[in-house]
Amino acid sequence: MQANPFLQDIIERIQKASDLEPEAIQSALTYPPNPDLGDVAFPCFLLAKARKKAPPVIAQELIAEAFQDSSEYIAKAEAAGPYINISYNRGAYAKHILGQAFESGEDYGKSTVGEGKVVAIDYSSPNIAKPFHVGHMRSTIIGGALYRIFETLGYKAVGINHLGDWGTQFGKLIVGLKKWGKDEDLEDVLALNHLYVKYHEEEKENEDLTDQAREWFRKQEAGDSEALELWQKIRDTSLEYFKRIYERLGVQFDSYDGESFFNDKMEEIVEIAEKEGKTEVSDGALIINLESEGIDTPALLKKADGSTLYMTRDLAAALHRKREYDFHKLLYVVGTEQALHFKQLFKCLELIGFNWAEDCQHVGFGRVKGMSTRKGNVVYLEELLDQARDHALKNMRENAERRPDLEDEERVAEVVGLAAIYFSDLSNRRIKDYTFDWTRAISFEGDTGPYLLNAHARIAGIIRKSGIDLPSSLDEVNFDLLTEPAANRLVGLLSRYPEALAQAAKDCEPANIANYLLELARGIHSAYKVLRVKGEEDTLAKTRLLLLNLAKITLKNGLGILGIPALEKM
Ligand code: ARG
Repeated sequence: MQANPFLQDIIERIQKASDLEPEAIQSALTYPPNPDLGDVAFPCFLLAKARKKAPPVIAQELIAEAFQDSSEYIAKAEAAGPYINISYNRGAYAKHILGQAFESGEDYGKSTVGEGKVVAIDYSSPNIAKPFHVGHMRSTIIGGALYRIFETLGYKAVGINHLGDWGTQFGKLIVGLKKWGKDEDLEDVLALNHLYVKYHEEEKENEDLTDQAREWFRKQEAGDSEALELWQKIRDTSLEYFKRIYERLGVQFDSYDGESFFNDKMEEIVEIAEKEGKTEVSDGALIINLESEGIDTPALLKKADGSTLYMTRDLAAALHRKREYDFHKLLYVVGTEQALHFKQLFKCLELIGFNWAEDCQHVGFGRVKGMSTRKGNVVYLEELLDQARDHALKNMRENAERRPDLEDEERVAEVVGLAAIYFSDLSNRRIKDYTFDWTRAISFEGDTGPYLLNAHARIAGIIRKSGIDLPSSLDEVNFDLLTEPAANRLVGLLSRYPEALAQAAKDCEPANIANYLLELARGIHSAYKVLRVKGEEDTLAKTRLLLLNLAKITLKNGLGILGIPALEKM
């Protein structure tokens, strides 16, 4: 992707008239609320301090100083309160943006900025034997999107599922199995989940159970064959279940090295920490004191009985990942309730002497309310996906007269359901808590996944039914014919896709793409009726077709990044 010379021109003009850095100008540029007002806007607040004047006054001044001489790029610059709204030279702009996008074709948006760099992403990471909760669902959705964002930008993304497949929960589950379970339960995730829940209910009444569970896990760690055999079966059953769900969600992992994988790899990092003189013994436990680093809670490496912890395994895992992948960045997509854990983890790595600790980042997210399918915070994922599909199917049948030619209703419903779940999640900034609402999520109107799918299918239909071939070269089109505001708006939207991607990667924030796509879908919905193709003069029809098709490609690529397969018909 080349730099945008239109933006470049604006940045240079403002730079000459101020002492702002080009990067500062670039990141301050925004879009006017209504695209008819201009293509970009510069907020003059930025200069208020330097010029000691009110922003609206500065806007007038800056226009006089920087935007007087005409150029091939800029058509006009106007003050709007504290902003300067700048409009590009239409035909030239369309030619530039669409020409570039046309050359990229299906690859529009892809770049090579990340070439040679690895971004390792730890996501989903459910706990085997414990229920998969809403947080794991969010991690799966956000992590999967980040994976595809970095991949699109040329990075090598590595998806790591840090399964919680070791720990005291296995002791609990084994007790549950022995007391209330049947042999078949070992093959059935839901039965295992129920045993886990039942264990916790019973434990409140019967403290003996706690000791028994602890003893079973101790045995497991000591290599007891019965405990290990049960553990292996539980792990296999759970993993098979998760993989089935992941397939339905369209998520992949390059590694399933979870906590158990680090069982024999923790000693090394503990020794390094000890040798560096960073550990202390406190009440018999081995800790790293982080008080001098501004973290009051120490990191626990070993309990008094010598057993290791979540933290110990995470330390070993980070070192292992550095060696294995030599990552440029290592992202942990985990709920914000674990913020302290990751603060401690990164600080420990730094204290131990790993300067790559600064490349590790906790990508936190808030809670979801209203998504649980039974009770508490637990989602039975399959049930949730089935519900989504059934909601969609019902919705589609109610509107059956609108879609007489739909062939594969079930598959469409599955995708619509997925889109509803994915989009409600990803359109919220990840740090926010949000409330999931079926009626809203599944609706075809408003800010929803199905609305986006719909925009895509609309254009697909128009192109299909136009009876005209897509232009095979730019010689067949004339961008000066794109005069309608709706066309300009689409051109502007298309130009912003690479930026939305770059911003999403920078902030680890898929919402940047989701919200961009929503605007694109709105642009499409208001354009397709105006930009008629069928029956129009040949060059005009081809030019519009090219524009619509590029909008379609962009929407499809963006949806794909979010994890939503675009539909040709719905
Ligand atoms: N299994 C953990 C949980 O469910 C999440 C693991 C996140 N990844 C990590 N490396 N700690 O809470």
